Amino acid sequence: MKISGWICLAVLVASVAAAAERQQDIVLADFEGGTYGDWQVTGTAFGRRPARGTLPNQMPVSGYEGRGLVNSFYDGDDSIGTLTSPEFVIERKFISFLIGGGRYPGRTCINLLVGGRIVQSATGPNDRPGGSERLNWRVWDVSALVGQKARIEIVDRCTGGWGHITVDHIVMSDERASLDQSREFVVSERYLNLPVKNGATMRRMRVLVGESIVREFEIELAEGEPDFWVFLDLTAFQGRTVTVQVDNLPRYSRGLRLVGQGDEIRAARRLYREKYRPGFHFTSRRGWNNDSNGLVFFKGEWHLYYQHNPYGIKWGNMHWGHAVSEDLVHWKELPIALYPQRFGDWCFSGSAVVDVDNTGGFQEGGEPAIVVAYTSTGRGECIAYSNDRGRTFAEFEGNPVVEHKGRDPKVIWYEPGGHWVMALYHEVDDKRTIAFYTSKDLKAWEFASLIDGFYECPELFELAVDGDAGNRKWVLHAADGDYMVGAFDGRVFTPESGKHKFSHGNCFYASQTYSGVPAEDGRRIQIAWGRVEMPGMPFNQMMLFPVELTLRTTGEGVRLAARPVREIERLHETSRSWEDLTVPMGRNPIPGVEGELLHIRAALRTDGVEKLGFVIRGTEVVYDVGEQRLACLDKTAPVSPVEGVLRLELLVDRTSIEIFANDGRVYMPMGATLPDDNKSIQILAEGGPAGIESLEVHALRSIWP
Ligand code: FRU
Repeated sequence: MKISGWICLAVLVASVAAAAERQQDIVLADFEGGTYGDWQVTGTAFGRRPARGTLPNQMPVSGYEGRGLVNSFYDGDDSIGTLTSPEFVIERKFISFLIGGGRYPGRTCINLLVGGRIVQSATGPNDRPGGSERLNWRVWDVSALVGQKARIEIVDRCTGGWGHITVDHIVMSDERASLDQSREFVVSERYLNLPVKNGATMRRMRVLVGESIVREFEIELAEGEPDFWVFLDLTAFQGRTVTVQVDNLPRYSRGLRLVGQGDEIRAARRLYREKYRPGFHFTSRRGWNNDSNGLVFFKGEWHLYYQHNPYGIKWGNMHWGHAVSEDLVHWKELPIALYPQRFGDWCFSGSAVVDVDNTGGFQEGGEPAIVVAYTSTGRGECIAYSNDRGRTFAEFEGNPVVEHKGRDPKVIWYEPGGHWVMALYHEVDDKRTIAFYTSKDLKAWEFASLIDGFYECPELFELAVDGDAGNRKWVLHAADGDYMVGAFDGRVFTPESGKHKFSHGNCFYASQTYSGVPAEDGRRIQIAWGRVEMPGMPFNQMMLFPVELTLRTTGEGVRLAARPVREIERLHETSRSWEDLTVPMGRNPIPGVEGELLHIRAALRTDGVEKLGFVIRGTEVVYDVGEQRLACLDKTAPVSPVEGVLRLELLVDRTSIEIFANDGRVYMPMGATLPDDNKSIQILAEGGPAGIESLEVHALRSIWP
C-alpha cells in the first residue's frame, strides 16, 4: 500500500491487550490537514480544502473528530461536486466512517468503488431541513473484498432540499467503530424503561419477539445520565423472550445497558407533581402529545385519544395515546390504544363513533363496538374497532378504506340519510380542501363532494341556534378552528357565511368534538390541543380545557361561543365572591387571593375607566375600553361590552390562561408558563377606579392523584 499524505497508521484501540491480538487500524483519511492531499476534487461543493467544522449559514455541525471534516456546504445547499480518494488496497474487514447531512441516496452519498463499480454506498441521516447536522458512525463490512483495490468517492449531486453531505474519519479495521447492539431477556415485569437525553443522536430501536418486530421507533437514547425516562408497556409480551435492538450505537455507548424492565415507570416518584405539570388540564405522563383524536362517549366514559410520541418530548413516532374520564375533568391515562403497524406507517389523527346499529358488523358481544377512522401514513384512511370499551383495537382487514392525498378522517352519523359521513383533509393539485365521503357500513366509502379553503383536521357538526331545536345549522372548520356556518344535506356542505375566527389565543389547534353524547346531555363538547411548551419536563404539550360549544345570534350574525364545561365546578375548593366593588386605579391585589389553579368569573363595568382587567401572576389580561379590545401577551381580540359590562371568565393553570369574554363569544386560550415566584392575582384599573359588578374567585384542586 502506498503511504502518502492521506494514509497513516494509527492505533485506535484503548486496550493494549486487544491491540496486540489484532491488526492495527488504518486511518484512510481524517481530514485534519490543510488540503485534500491526493484526493481529487470536482465542482465547488467541497471547497478547496477540508472544512473546519460548520460553514457560513449552516446549522451547527457536530459529531466529527478533531477539527477538520468533509463538508459539501461550501457555496450552500445548491453547489455540487465530488471528492475521490487515490486507490488503496482493502486490508481489513470493515471500513467505518462518520457521516451526516442529507438523506438522498445516490445524490448525497459516500461510495466504495472496486473496479470502477459502486460496491457500497451510504447517505446522510436527514431528508428535511431542521434535521440533525450531527455525524454518526456507519460501517461497511468489506471482508469479502480484502485484497482488492478500491477508491472512496464522496458525492454531492443534490441541488436544493437539504442537499449537502458531511464525512469524517474513514478507517479500515478488523472491528466495527459502531455496532448494532442487542439484548435479550424474558419479560417478567410491566414496563421497559428507556433513558432519554434531549439532543442525543436519534437511534432506531426495535423490540422483537422471535423473528417478528413488535415495536420499532426512534429515540434520543441517553448514553450516560438521562434527562428523563420513558416506558414501553410489555404487558402483551409477558413470559416471552424479547430482543431489544439499537442500530448503530458507538462501541462505548452505555445506552442499551441502561434499558431495563420494571413494574413501575422509572423515576415516577414525582409523577403529576412536576413543576410545570398542569393541575387540571390533561397531559400525558411521559412524551409528547398533539391533536385530540377519537373523542367519543361510551358507557359512562369520555374517551380522549390523542397524537402521541411515547418515547420523546418532540413530535414523532405517532401512536394514539388514550385517557378516560367519568366527568370530563379527572383523567386516567390508559395504555396506548393504537400502535403503528410498522416503522414509518404512523397512526395520524382520526375520530371515533359508537356503531350502535352494528352497521359495520364489527360487534362481537352484547355491546356495540367503538369504531375509529384514522390515517395510516403508510396505507391511507383506515378503520379499526374495539369490543372492549375502547381499550384495544383490531384492524379492519379491508384497510385502507380511502386512498387519497390527505389525512384526518372525521366520521359522523347523518341521521336523516341513515348513513355515515367522513370529512377528510384532501389535497388536489396542491389546493387545500375538505372532501366528504359517505358509507352505509363504515367499510365501503363513496366520494360525495369537496369544499375549498380548509386545512388539516376537519370537523363537522350540527347545533341548534340559540337553543332552538327548530332552527339548526351546521358548522364546518379545520385545525385552526376558523369556521363557516351553513347547511349540510349528508353529501354537500353549503356555506351560509364567510369564515369566522374561532380562537383568538396563541395555542389552540386541531380540536375535535365528542360523538356518542347521550341525548339527555345533548352538549357539543370540544377538546383542542394546547400548543404549549413545557420547559424541562418529561412530557410536552397539553389539552385545552373541554368547552361546550353553542351557536348564538349576535348583532353580526350567527356565531359560535365556547364556555368551559360546567364540570369545572367540581374542582372548586375554596370560593370567594364580591359584589359592587370599587377598586382604585393601579394594580390592586384581591384581598387574600393568590394561587396557581384558579377559576375566575367577573362582570366589570367599563364606564369611567380606560383600561381594566386582571394581572395573573404577572401576566396581564386587559380590556382597552376606547379600543374595545381585549389583550393578553401578544394577542388581542375585539370585544364590545354589553350594556356597559364586560364579562370575563378565566381558567388559570401553571402553563395557561384560558380567557372567555362575553359568555364565551370571545375565546382566547393562551399558553403562558407562569413564573413560580409570583402567585399574585391583581385587578388592574387605568384612567379611573374599576367598578366591579360581581367577582368570584375559586381556587381549584388538582385533578391528579
Ligand atoms: C395536525 C396534524 C394532523 C396529523 C397529525 C400528525 O396537528 O398535522 O394533520 O394527522 O397532526 O401528528
